Amino acid sequence: MKKFRGIFLKNDNEIAVMREANRIGRSILDAVCDAVRPGVPTMRFEEIAQDMCRTWKVRPAFQGYCGYPYALCCSVNEVVVHGFPSETRKLVEGDLVSIDFGVIFEGFFSDCARTVGVGEVSGDIARLIRITEESLAAGVAEARPGNTLRDICAAVQKHAEGHGYAVIRRFVGHGVGRSLHEKPEIPNFTSALSLPLPLKAGMVLAIEPMLAMGTWEVEVLSDNWTAVTKDRKPAAHCEHSVAVLPHGPEILSLPAA
Ligand code: MF3
Ligand code: CO
Repeated sequence: MKKFRGIFLKNDNEIAVMREANRIGRSILDAVCDAVRPGVPTMRFEEIAQDMCRTWKVRPAFQGYCGYPYALCCSVNEVVVHGFPSETRKLVEGDLVSIDFGVIFEGFFSDCARTVGVGEVSGDIARLIRITEESLAAGVAEARPGNTLRDICAAVQKHAEGHGYAVIRRFVGHGVGRSLHEKPEIPNFTSALSLPLPLKAGMVLAIEPMLAMGTWEVEVLSDNWTAVTKDRKPAAHCEHSVAVLPHGPEILSLPAA
């Protein structure tokens, strides 16, 4: 595969496979999100994802990755990312839950996440989810040749912080392709270290803002995965896999039309 500064550039055929991988991954993610309601134990989502992977003949991308034990991540309220599905944690009206899921199809990884409210949620929670989605959209809009990676990072941060939310520092987006995590890292913020890396057609980027209502500091629990906000205030997470094409971004992980 061609490379630019160590970053794999996908050709049209490879992007077509990634489009299909993401179509399958997204349809499974949407089926899981449709099952979100008060009273459901979050392990139910794992069962749905595992069943649908068998039906589609794809492998769940996260299971076994760095030892991660499940097909999906299910992060409720103060859990930012990498929450385990649980038999005992039943969703409660007013919770927010982020589901992160990907598949491996013909050697390529899909990666997509959504945050949804459980039943009726407070205005504060609804706004956190909406601004997280908008911050993702703002980042995606910058994913075009002629721009730099810094433009994506800055757009996400500006939208999030402009609406009063904290941007999580500890976790970042990433290139995606034949591996789940490829170069480059895609922070949701800029710093003196963020180089103006030119974006090139053929890059596929997983952009994934994580926004918190309080502090951006996180703690990882003793299971070595579950990342929670230090102040235990809610956080939301949305992710798309986006191909940089000559004329602009294509979101590969959109819902089926
Ligand atoms: N979407 C997440 C990521 O890109 C999912 C990783 S969970 C893991 O990092 F278990 F696979 F690490
Ligand atoms: Co990701």
